[in-house]
Amino acid sequence: MKKIIALVMVVALMLTCFAGCGGNGDAENKGSAPAGDNEGTASDVTTEVTTVTEGKLTMGTNAYFQPYEYYDGDKIVGIDAEIAAKIAEKLGLELVIEDMAFDSIITAVSEGSVDLGLAGMTVTEDRLKDVDFSISYANGVQAIIVPENSKITTVDDLYADGAAYKVGVQLGTTGDIYATDDFGDELVTSFTTGNEAVNALLGGDIDCVIIDNEPAKAFVANNKGLKILDTSYADEDYAACIKKGNTALLNAVDKAIRELIADGTIDDIVAKYIK
Ligand code: ARG
Repeated sequence: MKKIIALVMVVALMLTCFAGCGGNGDAENKGSAPAGDNEGTASDVTTEVTTVTEGKLTMGTNAYFQPYEYYDGDKIVGIDAEIAAKIAEKLGLELVIEDMAFDSIITAVSEGSVDLGLAGMTVTEDRLKDVDFSISYANGVQAIIVPENSKITTVDDLYADGAAYKVGVQLGTTGDIYATDDFGDELVTSFTTGNEAVNALLGGDIDCVIIDNEPAKAFVANNKGLKILDTSYADEDYAACIKKGNTALLNAVDKAIRELIADGTIDDIVAKYIK
């Protein structure tokens, strides 16, 4: 039975890869799923949306992920926070942001303690078993941060014969999942935040950090002696996750994102944070 499940998963991953691997340069598409396009009818959109707290749209995130979500004083700002505010506005709801560990977001969404997760979250086949995803609003790249004088010069060095580099990642992220798969538990250390991973790198405890490209850029800009490799580790799609079966909310969020893409709002928000 296990074998059959494993085989089905391998086939599913292969199909995903065939669908998503075109023209990605060096990066592999490590089973990250293409974001769905959930066409909603107009009637689903306005009439049936119910939320965890009436009149509010509660978003779960992990606010240590600049420029998507991070603290400015005691306020959570960033691309996702602004996109969520626009979505809430379109739904006539007030946005409430709840900060939590990244690996708690999917549970919070599927257990119904928040309405949606927006956290630079990559759509993957595995996550699709637990939650639904909106259409994608951004592309993500898993990048590799190394010290400036590192022996690691390309992503291939990590796989070289006899290479046993220590990799740091953020717990429960795709960087964590893929790196653990590729290099094994002993070589991969998962930190609660990307910041802690970068500190371990600066302290010489690990040899590289695998993390999304935009936060990687922020970490490199804020810390001396680090650089990002030119070759990336994986290419991904970011989307909002929503409780399985909550199609009214999913359709409403999809419709909102589609409009925010079409009228250039999302481009404007991104341009504000990513120069
Ligand atoms: N894109 C990666 C993933 O989905 C990392 C996202 C981390 N996001 C955050 N807000 N800390 O696994």
